[in-house]
Formats: sequence, structure tokens, C-alpha cells
Amino acid sequence: MNIPWWRDAVVYEIYVRSFADASGDGVGDLPGVRERLPYLRDLGVDAIWLTPFYPSPMADGGYDVADYRGVDPLFGTLADFEALVTDAHELGLRVLVDIVPNHSSSEHPWFQAALRGEGRDRYVFRDRPNNWQSTFGGPAWTQVEDGQYYLHLFAPGQPDFNWRNPEVHAEFLDVLRFWLDRGVDGFRIDVAMGLYKAEGLPDVGDQSFTTSSPVWGQPEVHGVYRDWRRLLDAYPGERMAVGEVWTDSPEDLARYVRPDELHQSFNFAWLEAPWSPTAFRKVIDDTLSTVPFATWVLSNHDVVRHRTRYETADPGTGLARARAALLTMLALPGSAYLYQGEELGLPEVTDLPAEARQDPVFFQSEGKLPGRDGCRVPIPWTVDPPSHGFSPGGVEPWLPQPATFAELSVDKQEGDSDSTLEFYRRALAIRRDLLRRIPYTVEWLDSPEGVLFFTRGPLICAINCGTHAVPLPGHDSVLLASGPVRRGMLPPDTAVWLERGSQPG
Ligand code: NOJ
Repeated sequence: MNIPWWRDAVVYEIYVRSFADASGDGVGDLPGVRERLPYLRDLGVDAIWLTPFYPSPMADGGYDVADYRGVDPLFGTLADFEALVTDAHELGLRVLVDIVPNHSSSEHPWFQAALRGEGRDRYVFRDRPNNWQSTFGGPAWTQVEDGQYYLHLFAPGQPDFNWRNPEVHAEFLDVLRFWLDRGVDGFRIDVAMGLYKAEGLPDVGDQSFTTSSPVWGQPEVHGVYRDWRRLLDAYPGERMAVGEVWTDSPEDLARYVRPDELHQSFNFAWLEAPWSPTAFRKVIDDTLSTVPFATWVLSNHDVVRHRTRYETADPGTGLARARAALLTMLALPGSAYLYQGEELGLPEVTDLPAEARQDPVFFQSEGKLPGRDGCRVPIPWTVDPPSHGFSPGGVEPWLPQPATFAELSVDKQEGDSDSTLEFYRRALAIRRDLLRRIPYTVEWLDSPEGVLFFTRGPLICAINCGTHAVPLPGHDSVLLASGPVRRGMLPPDTAVWLERGSQPG
């Protein structure tokens, strides 16, 4: 059987603004990513996902796209992008780019024309707003000069497209072609369960991501992905798409990954699960029994970093649990999405001063919500301030890094076998080797309370979510542990990979 590259791929999310700044303006850019590609090859990931680098007024960090076929000068040029793809491919790394089809920027020429009264049907204009709220806070409608209102499920600078207009379909197919022709291996689809809104735009009681919502997940959206799949399949080289789908049910998630739709969708249930063996086991079982191609995510540029989520829930446990959750996730069938900096054990930066904050969530909630800047603080490459090697010379980065980033920098961790960076490298190297030998299934073994044991052929993964050390299940060798495993005992907040026998399952 031909196993497509993406089925078990480890994909590394690069939040471009915060990864590496080559130009020296304090903001990450494509040449910065390009310079650091060898680091990613050495880390052992299979692919990178680049967050939006298109021309944008940055009302939402680039998720407000003014031109879907270009590169914002802040991030470089189209030639820089092409050079990046070439280098990545030479290093054996695939490249995914972000596609933002639910909304454009208010600076997009179509929206500018709509404001002049031309082609308003490409967006959602109404004489009267309904009661929908913006996901970032405040009403989802903004009034324009002639009295009409337009819909924006996110910032006012992000008007929602009207996908009931065929022109929008044609435009996005063309945008996909544009990037496919430049060699991208696939797309991450922003707000993939958005796009269509229920006919008549009825008022809602609750606007959360539920299967019955008139705001999200309308059945018509699947037609879009069928068209996109046909296009991707027409290109050589197993091009793929992964959807950002927030939903309350695994069955609904599975609808996006039918054989003629998207290849994958993010499994946020894993990220949302508390530190609990029952919760972990339920997510794993629900996912593997419903979704044909599973994905696993612990962190991304929209959520509090998982080290800090665990730390907040149970002080003193954050890093240990983050490492144990990673090892468990990498043992599961399917593909894993990592977020830049988690391999360094970066925590959320929770004490950014209000004047430094940039996320529209902070402003639209009038400061009630901190927003997502805390997980977007630039990566520390070296020990030295002011930018820890993120920018050249004495340039300050666009978000301030805390002093604690020095100890967590790449330079500091490289070569230190106890570091989280070296732990990630070992885990990814062992996983790559194991994948040749383990089946795409999970079998549960009996385990003590608070603990999970599962096997995939010769691999056994054990995670202790309880409060006492427990004996390891029977095994021949220890492959890797997320913390101290001694005298056959697995301590709390620790996971381990064991090997037994060696016949393929
Ligand atoms: C999801 C993206 O990940 C997030 O950063 C963005 O704010 C919203 N979609 C709107 O585009």
C-alpha cells in the first residue's frame, strides 16, 4: 500500500513574524526562515507550515489578506518565497502555506470596490445586522458610509466573503493554483468550517463552534473542499490540505476528511483535553474510530502554550507534563503538528505590558482578554539580549522577550542531553525509525489507575497521569522517557516508550 507522506508527517508550524528576522526590522521574515531550515531538518520534522506572509495591513497578524498572490515587504519577496521552497525541498522538507478563504482584509481591492458600491455581493452586506458577535469580541457587523453593514466574524478589518457567489469560488481555485505552481506541497485552511453562513442569517443564542450553529459548519462548505481536492489531485506529488476545523464532535470533524475532501483536519480535542487519563483515552478512541487520518496538536499560535496550560492547572508540573504529552502524541497513529518554540519548552509569556500587545483580541475585548501575543513572542536562538539572536545586531523584536528566554535558547539547549530540544530531536528520530515497523492502530493494555498503556506492534507507550509511581509494563528495552524512569518505575507526569519483541504487528 502506498502511504502518502502526510499520513504520519510531523509538521512544524512557523509563525513567520516570530521565527527569525533576517532583515533587521524586528519582525520575522521568509529569508529568516530560509536561514534556519537546517535547524528544522536537524530537529527531524517532515514539513513546515508557514502562517500568512501575504500583503496585509496586519489587522490580525496577516490573517487579513489584501493580496492572495503576493508577499508583504515586511516578510520579503516572491523570489524569497521561491528560494525558501527550493531550499526546503533540497533538505527534504515539505512546505504548506496558509489559505484564508473565510475573509479578506478590508484593504483587499474587492472590498475597496464594495465600499464604492461595486461587487458588494462578494461580501456579506445587509441593511440591518443580526445579533452575531465577532469571535474577537463586540458585534460582528460594521456600518459603512451609505448605512449598510458588513459581516466580519473576526476583526472589522476582516470582512467575510459571500461563498454563495461563484466568483469567490473561481478566485480561490485560482489562488490555490498560483501557489501550487510555485511548488507548495499543501495548504492549511484557515477557519475551514466557516465560509458559508445559514441562509437568512438567523439570530443565535450561543455562538460556540457547534454542529448545529447557523454561523459555522454549513453543509455547503463540503462542496468547496471537493472542488479543491480535485484540483490538488490533478497536481503531481501528493499535494494536500489540512483544515482548521473547530467543532464539538469527532463525527463532524470526520466529514471534512472524507476521501474526496480534505486530507486532514486539526484535532483540537487533543489540545483541549485536560491532564486526565480518561480524557486522553476518550479523545484517542473517538478520533481513531471516526477520523480516517488522524492529527494531533498541543499548541499553536492561537492558544496558551501547553506547558503553561498544564502549569496553570497544577503548578510545578508544566514542563514535565508538556514533555509527557508530546511523547504520547508522537506515539499515536497519524500526523503531529508542532508549534515553533515548543521544542524549547517555551512557556506562554503572560506578563506582556498592555502597550506591547498587538492582538486584536486584546483590543476588541477592551483588555478583558489578554489575547494571543503571549504564545507569539519571538524565538530565542542565542543567550544574548536584546533579541536572543532573533534579529541581527541590537534590534529589539516586535514583542519583548522575557529574561527567562536566555536559558531556553537554542544555543543553550543544543548538546545538553537533558534539554527539551535534545529530547524532541531524539523523539523525532526514534519515531521516524519506528514508523517503518508499527501498525496504524492502537491497542490498550491493562494499566493501574491514573495511567495509560498502549501498544503499536513492538512499541509500548505508557503515560502516568496519576500521583504515584507505577511499575512499567513488561518490555525488552526503554527507547525514550520524558523524565526520570529508574528501577522499572514510571513516576507521575512522565511518559515512556518501550520496546518488546520485534515482530511487526
Ligand atoms: C484562525 C487563525 O489561526 C487565527 O490566528 C486568526 O485570527 C483567525 N483564524 C482569523 O483568521
